[in-house]
Amino acid sequence: MAENEGQPEQRPQRPQDDERSDRRGFISATTLAVGGMACGYGMLFYCGGRYLYPANGGAVSHQFVCTVDQLRVGEAMPFTLPSGAKVVIARQAEEDTAESFIALSSVCPHLGCQVHWEAVNDRFFCPCHNGAFDASGAPIEGPPQKANQHLTRFPLLVQDNLLMIAVPMGSVEIAEAEEQG
Ligand code: FES
Repeated sequence: MAENEGQPEQRPQRPQDDERSDRRGFISATTLAVGGMACGYGMLFYCGGRYLYPANGGAVSHQFVCTVDQLRVGEAMPFTLPSGAKVVIARQAEEDTAESFIALSSVCPHLGCQVHWEAVNDRFFCPCHNGAFDASGAPIEGPPQKANQHLTRFPLLVQDNLLMIAVPMGSVEIAEAEEQG
């Protein structure tokens, strides 16, 4: 009785078979890599989109700052957003409209020091490295100018003589949850 009786006959592998199987392996590895990259980038764009356009449709809440007559032209006041972010709000013109005021982050975009408004120099100044910004938050001196780093600006609204600042709803909800928790 033959040794391999009852077992399927094994065909000797030819060199072409090896090449085909290598090619198939390469194609499936490439397909996996490309698919993985597509998923990765897809997730990146999805997260970026959710950050820029949150699920609440980018809704904002208006927080009361002060009455318009509480700030005179050239004066500024600090304000803390519900998120804890520090903002400086300055009055730059006489009219009782939102355009007469400006709200800028008081955190220097260079290394995070506090900036303050210098009415006499008509600029925001950062004492850490002598950085300065004009009245619109554009960099005019020091490291922020070299790196073209602007102060972040927040929208304002004047209604019934009240000055209000627009803040993203998400940050208000988080701040309220922290207060309750
Ligand atoms: S931290 Fe403001 S200029 Fe460096």
